[in-house]
Amino acid sequence: MAILPDNRTLSAPLAGISDPVYCSWALRYGAGLVFSGMVCAEGIRRRSAKTLALLDFPENIRPLGIQLFDDDPSAVFEAAQYVEGLGVDLIDINLGCPAKKVFRKGAGVQLMGDPKAAEAVVKAAVSAVSIPVSAKIRTGINDAEAFREVIPRLADAGATFITLHARTRKQALSGSADWSKIAEAVEISPVPIVGNGDVASADGALSMIRETGCAAVMIGRGSLGNPWVFAEVSGALTGGEIPLPPSDEQRLSACARYVAELGDFYGDDRAGKIARKHVGWFTKGMADARKIRAKAYSMDKASEIVEFLSNFQTEKEQHAG
Ligand SMILES: Cc1cc2nc3c(=O)[nH]c(=O)nc-3n(C[C@H](O)[C@H](O)[C@H](O)COP(=O)(O)O)c2cc1C
Repeated sequence: MAILPDNRTLSAPLAGISDPVYCSWALRYGAGLVFSGMVCAEGIRRRSAKTLALLDFPENIRPLGIQLFDDDPSAVFEAAQYVEGLGVDLIDINLGCPAKKVFRKGAGVQLMGDPKAAEAVVKAAVSAVSIPVSAKIRTGINDAEAFREVIPRLADAGATFITLHARTRKQALSGSADWSKIAEAVEISPVPIVGNGDVASADGALSMIRETGCAAVMIGRGSLGNPWVFAEVSGALTGGEIPLPPSDEQRLSACARYVAELGDFYGDDRAGKIARKHVGWFTKGMADARKIRAKAYSMDKASEIVEFLSNFQTEKEQHAG
């Protein structure tokens, strides 16, 4: 099944961020496939309420991949079946998370050090469901070697495509992604490789595809407070229009709408807390960023933040006038 979108523009799984609101914005602005943050397969198997809440995506958020992490193939098997029952389009297996909690369990990027275990986990998901299963990997643990052995095994296990975040575990998110490893992965992989790491613009996406030959690009941090990046990248990769960057006014009003949607989804109080980081991202580089953040961060409810952001521009214009 062809799951990679024609516009070759994917949003990244971002734990604590790529919730239904984020994914809905990514899709609206042009991402062709979106992902949940990583969800613990064992938690799904145990029907942990906290874990199941991470799967609560409305049916209009499609095409959607749910990302699972675990080192236990039987947990992945059961979780994959549960997730398929939700009617999503894809299951992605996390073999890249460097977080201690995940790593100690033997899951996430730890699986890059054990290609057989990595293969078993992906195979478990593939054998459990009829929807496609993909995998997201790093180049390795301490050095950028393991991907060469892991990629053919994951392809054998039935992964429909493999996303390579071109950093090692040791690098976490520091330094730059080594795109030459993506080019190498493309050479050796029997299945399409999605390139990931440091793409934050149309030019970046075009360069990554030109330099590596990857089948699609995945964008994470470059989309924080910046859903416009998906329109830019999608435009560039389809030979279509590349929209102009948004003005500060457009960014503030988008931020207000984003926070309002967080309020609708999470409720006013919880959304008020979640909104803070998004206000920080949406206002990055703005002349009034400090003022806006200080005020918004002092507010508890999403609705207060929405009102403040909506009025900020009008009041500024009135003062200027
Ligand atoms: C806050 C945050 C949360 C992340 N959560 C996940 C996750 O749940 N699963 C995953 O595979 N990668 C996760 N990542 C890694 C990203 O998907 C991506 O591989 C990485 O940020 C590099 O891409 P970028 O340069 O476009 O951001 C996370 C990254 C960040 C910054």
